[in-house]
Amino acid sequence: FGWAIVCLAGGYASGSIPFGLVLGYVFGLGDIRKIGSGNIGATNALRTGNKAMAALTLLGDILKGTVPVFVALYYLGPFYAAAAGVGAFLGHVFPVWLGFKGGKGVATYLGILLGIAPLGVVVFAIAWLSVAYLTRFSSLAALVATLLVPIAYFFLGYPAAALLTAVLTVLVYIRHHANIRRLMAGTEPKIGAGKA
Ligand code: G3P
Repeated sequence: FGWAIVCLAGGYASGSIPFGLVLGYVFGLGDIRKIGSGNIGATNALRTGNKAMAALTLLGDILKGTVPVFVALYYLGPFYAAAAGVGAFLGHVFPVWLGFKGGKGVATYLGILLGIAPLGVVVFAIAWLSVAYLTRFSSLAALVATLLVPIAYFFLGYPAAALLTAVLTVLVYIRHHANIRRLMAGTEPKIGAGKA
């Protein structure tokens, strides 16, 4: 049980690295929390107009979920990998360094899937890309993808992964409350354009 706490804490430390914020400064774009939706994720990073910075934010936010999950899986096993994944997700969404005001968790969620059961990555990618292509709403793509992942795990015979991702999906939905309101009001900005 002690190791589960270590994995949770290690995952949290990794997840709490705010790549979007740091890269915004590195690229001389300032505080990305002051533009668009105010989020520190890749979708909002794209609103700076700097695609390289947005791509690096996406990559960093994915890997900070994948790396602790892989390390825990390799040295300790699946239960500990799940603890590391939950830690990473909580670190991204509630980073102590930013007064617990972090991101919405979508890229890190994807990163965790890569580590726990990559089948979910396929479901996530197909759902996200299809919805994003058809509607141009990043948030809607994330909401559909994260809804389908636990359902897919459940029906494909991965009950533990289904349970873990269902919990993370609830948090993703809570973090998207403003996006959900804007989607229903018809005011959600499309990918790469406009302010939120
Ligand atoms: O991954 C976050 C995305 O779903 C929404 O981001 O900046 O449009 O609120 P944003």
